[in-house]
Amino acid sequence: MVREVQSRRDEQGRADGADKEGSGSEIRLEPIGASNKKAVLALELAQDQQDFLADNASSLKEAASDDDARPRAVVAGNRVVGFLMYDAGEDDGEALIYRFMIDRRNQGRGYGRAALSALLKEIRALGHVRDALVCYMPENEGARRLYQSAGFVDEGADEDGEMIARLRFVRQTRRP
Ligand SMILES: CC(C)(COP(=O)(O)OP(=O)(O)OC[C@H]1O[C@@H](n2cnc3c(N)ncnc32)[C@H](O)[C@@H]1OP(=O)(O)O)[C@@H](O)C(=O)NCCC(=O)NCCS
Repeated sequence: MVREVQSRRDEQGRADGADKEGSGSEIRLEPIGASNKKAVLALELAQDQQDFLADNASSLKEAASDDDARPRAVVAGNRVVGFLMYDAGEDDGEALIYRFMIDRRNQGRGYGRAALSALLKEIRALGHVRDALVCYMPENEGARRLYQSAGFVDEGADEDGEMIARLRFVRQTRRP
């Protein structure tokens, strides 16, 4: 599985210089609306990734009936390249990132890392979140590496067999 995915990454080239349309650093997150919904619905996963998370149509449907869900389009320049969803309830100081995907044609270019960084910045800016949690299938090596490189630490599987990983935000202390 890892080898299969790795060869796809090799074919696609890497973010460092391989992406001519814009590097991962130009990534921004947008709430879902009339201007980007169609593009989010058109995003695709590779065949061997489809069991890793729900499809975007189901996620948007879910978000429509869940006030806590915060769905976002991942935008590079003027193109929607990915989708993610999280919640950040005020009660427990934890944010849960439970959908995160980059379109199969745009993977391996640094967009995932840039989107995660933008997301963590957005979550921190909320002010009340102490920890960010992610969940991913244990066999999803790409997700594991991405989250670990951002500082998430695996905590073990939940009752559905999904791995939970946690990132504890360090509080900024102001100098007197
Ligand atoms: C996981 C995913 C979001 C990564 O997005 P991406 O844009 O391809 O990732 P990037 O190019 O920014 O790579 C960032 C890091 O992620 C890790 N990574 C991503 N894909 C990987 C793969 N196939 N194999 C190994 N490591 C991988 C690497 O650590 C990589 O850093 P490196 O390039 O320095 O090695 C993307 O592959 C995806 O959408 N996968 C299907 C959905 C999914 O699994 N979502 C996560 C769980 S819900």
